[in-house]
Amino acid sequence: MADEHYARRAAELREQLHHHAHRYYVLDAPEIPDAEYDRLFQELQRLEEQHPGLRTPDSPTQRVIGRVLDGLVPVRHRVPMLSIETETDTSAAGARNFDARVRRELGLAADAPPVAYSAELKFDGLAISLRYEHGVLVQAATRGDGETGEDVTQNIRTIGQVPLRLAGSPPPVLEVRGEVYMRRGDFERLNERQRERGEKTYVNPRNTAAGAVRQLDPAVTAQRPLSLYCYGIGDVEGWALPPTHNGLLDALAAFGLPVNRDRAAVLGAEGLVDFHDAIALRRDELPFDIDGVVYKVDSLDLQRQLGFKTREPRWAVAHKFPAQEQVTRLNGIDIQVGRTGKLTPVAKLEPVFVGGTTVSNATLHNLFELRRKGVRVGDRVIVRRAGDVIPEVVGRIAEPRPQYVPNFRMPRLCPVCGSTVARERGGIDHRCSGGLYCPAQRKQALLHFAGRRAMDIEGLGDKIVDQLVDGGLIRTLPELYTLGVAKLAVLERMADRSAANLVAALEKSKQTTLPRFLYALGIRHVGEATARDLARHFGRMDGLMDASVEQLLQVRDVGPVVAQSIATFFAQPHNREVVEQLRAAGVTFEEGEPAAHAAPLPLAGKTFVLTGTLPTLTRDEAKARLEALGAKVAGSVSRKTDYVVAGAEAGSKLDKARELGVPLLDEPGLLAILGD
Ligand code: IVH
Repeated sequence: MADEHYARRAAELREQLHHHAHRYYVLDAPEIPDAEYDRLFQELQRLEEQHPGLRTPDSPTQRVIGRVLDGLVPVRHRVPMLSIETETDTSAAGARNFDARVRRELGLAADAPPVAYSAELKFDGLAISLRYEHGVLVQAATRGDGETGEDVTQNIRTIGQVPLRLAGSPPPVLEVRGEVYMRRGDFERLNERQRERGEKTYVNPRNTAAGAVRQLDPAVTAQRPLSLYCYGIGDVEGWALPPTHNGLLDALAAFGLPVNRDRAAVLGAEGLVDFHDAIALRRDELPFDIDGVVYKVDSLDLQRQLGFKTREPRWAVAHKFPAQEQVTRLNGIDIQVGRTGKLTPVAKLEPVFVGGTTVSNATLHNLFELRRKGVRVGDRVIVRRAGDVIPEVVGRIAEPRPQYVPNFRMPRLCPVCGSTVARERGGIDHRCSGGLYCPAQRKQALLHFAGRRAMDIEGLGDKIVDQLVDGGLIRTLPELYTLGVAKLAVLERMADRSAANLVAALEKSKQTTLPRFLYALGIRHVGEATARDLARHFGRMDGLMDASVEQLLQVRDVGPVVAQSIATFFAQPHNREVVEQLRAAGVTFEEGEPAAHAAPLPLAGKTFVLTGTLPTLTRDEAKARLEALGAKVAGSVSRKTDYVVAGAEAGSKLDKARELGVPLLDEPGLLAILGD
């Protein structure tokens, strides 16, 4: 009886795992997060261990999955592309287990010195093998099943970071192994663009990268911002290898291949644990997703001694971090009203631990996205939280609903103030028409005004703003400056001392600059850069407030949408009043001459791109100093770029600069231009 039950469950798990493996490996379109797949896989593994009779030759536990796509040409790997064993214990014990295993297999005595390891990041992308003959890239292949992969040479050639020719004196044959991945910022921008165009968004950087590499049309791959890190080698001829893995990676870097710098040569289990903990703390700050770290025995001699199991080397292990995607229940959908009145559907979730924190709210972006994902209240959904990106619902688990659930509808009236809701941008966005009458918009406007990059009012956070608005203490921006200690002290959690601090911060904020003031007003489409351009062009507030759309169009980088938005803003009497009242409250900013009469700034018309980490200046500082001299700081390198300033860990922008022959500057070079 019980046996029958286990057999049925095993068959069910095999079926599900086959289905999900196909979605993942062949279609690059998974329906469930990795963590969920791993759970199913482990359940089957346990069942098969306890009841070996249930093991079938086609069980997903019996092979490495992955299949050659129809359409791409198969490539037989001369040296198989192995996988690594995963240590799923995410605590320090994972690292200690590995070290203990290595020591045992090397037959080391307890008092023998610690083993040297190479500790690296585990990049979350698609494994790739790059074959260079006489320094020239001749073939790129995916891993496939480890023995046979797919030829993706044309696609890989479109990735700026992949050198088509190696530097230095590379050996006659060198196969480099690495991971193609997508940086989080690139992924966010790609999805933002998709959303703006009303097109489908991508689930996560890893699948997007994998899908792009396995495209049949290289032109599509070329439009995806892909990156590469190399972490090992395959087939090699005519090269006396360095003695250590770390030395090998240094050599690859010297050939001009991208190798991540967050790697370390460490000693023993404690060295591994320290590395693991240090990276776990910095995980959110990294510009790309990692799902853990990888430890490798550093000495290539010891690696040879340790050798391989069937599919995996004994000298390496992947030590995982908590998953960044999880499954949970969607309990409801709320509406949040933003600063510009945009209504965002927010998922109310059964609290779930994702990427190191408990998440109970996640964005659903807009009605279009919500409909496309087809999520309804009561569904099991996939929640993703990576880095400092707002948690989002990426989709639902495709399973039948036990009962009919109506589709979500956007309210016709603003849930906060009751004003009518207008549909915009081809029906993608919904916006409350209440403006500053709407308390939600008022709160966001105040928070934006007080922001670090705007008026910089320290201590004016959302808790206080909520109370100020809900308690009717403040209706307009200028009223902020009427707050005194007595009025503030009645607020919850506001002691005399912090009230005094806030009043002092308000006082301090009155001394500001024109660009900050303009940005603080929260005019739609006027970000920091535009605010600076406007300030420089008009010099004075009055000139700007009276400018026509035509005059506004004269400003650098101001197009029709932005010009219209500014003109409309200042055409409203109540907005002009806000400016007057702020001035009356004592807000001052230096005003200058309009740019046409002022002497041109020394770097006017020059475009700079910053990449990597400079030894002393932060990126913000470098940017601010360049802009103060009239330079423009752009995000990507093109033929129009005048200089690229490159620091440590410079990536694809540096390669692009070299390719286009754009002059490069290091920090001393930059400081010289800045007149230091
Ligand atoms: S070494 C023989 N190092 O993780 C060992 N792999 O789960 C070959 N990966 O297939 C792999 N970062 O695609 C290695 N620093 C790293 C890695 C890494 C990510 C990927 C790789 C591999 C998979 C195994």
